[in-house]
Amino acid sequence: MDRELVGRASPPAPGIATPAMDIKQSIRRNFARRADSYDRHAGVQRLMARELLDRVQEELTLSRRILEVGCGTGYLTASLRQGHPGSELVALDLDAALIAQARRRLGPDSQVSWLVADGEFFSQGDFDLIISNAVFQWFTNPREALQAYFQALSPRGCLAFATLGPQTFGELDASLRQAAAAMNLQTVPEIPARGFLNSQDWEDLLSRAGFSPIQMSRQIFTANFPTVPEFLRALKAMGATNPKPRPFSPRLLNALIQAYDARFRTNGSVPATYEIIWAVARK
Ligand SMILES: C[S@@+](CC[C@H](N)C(=O)[O-])C[C@H]1O[C@@H](n2cnc3c(N)ncnc32)[C@H](O)[C@@H]1O
Repeated sequence: MDRELVGRASPPAPGIATPAMDIKQSIRRNFARRADSYDRHAGVQRLMARELLDRVQEELTLSRRILEVGCGTGYLTASLRQGHPGSELVALDLDAALIAQARRRLGPDSQVSWLVADGEFFSQGDFDLIISNAVFQWFTNPREALQAYFQALSPRGCLAFATLGPQTFGELDASLRQAAAAMNLQTVPEIPARGFLNSQDWEDLLSRAGFSPIQMSRQIFTANFPTVPEFLRALKAMGATNPKPRPFSPRLLNALIQAYDARFRTNGSVPATYEIIWAVARK
């Protein structure tokens, strides 16, 4: 039987809920609500995961204990188990429903422990590899998280992750600004990707946490959608919506769609940019 270790990671300081904790709850809810539709829309996340695995083939072969942060519905988790059945794996996620879905995907497996926890505050363990796909962009304390992973790695252990950078959904950001300006709105709603860290930010944080050597790579990937509403529906179905939602008025939504179409539609489709960042860092 596989094991469930609910809440064994150290939580943040106890006490009153902070804004960061509220955001964390919203991130958790956004993904949990979309547990059933996530896999149908997560083509880019699968691409990120496959390339991440390619970058750590050697580490995977040598790893006895692996921690996966933010396993979600278990796509990367299943690949880790299929490719490396001999290693022990701890798979954690913020949300119990996502863990349940990942467990169903994998079936009983005595080498896997499941943990419902905030992966940013996980400092225990003796892992040879800590791996994570499409999660770190949502972190609210990345500096502390990387320091904790450095501690949780065995000597010469490896941290490998794929994340999204601030150029992600640049078309959406530009169209939203244009729509807000056309409507004379005082404040422009900001998309979460604007606050994502870039490759250099991650490299600096990894270096300050003590990792060396660090290999960073980056790719701009463009997905195409038949219409802007279909792109927005796909974002929602993936749970990748704003953790601090500001309701869009129907007028702003219409203006956004018009601006997006006018500026970016080509050959019958609208593009959506993903800035993908991979990091492989050694202790
Ligand atoms: C885009 S999904 C990626 C899921 C999976 N890694 C994949 O590649 O399909 C992001 C996942 O990260 C989880 N997540 C976000 N912040 C987290 C945190 N601080 N600790 C643990 N999981 C987190 C979410 O609950 C969600 O399952």
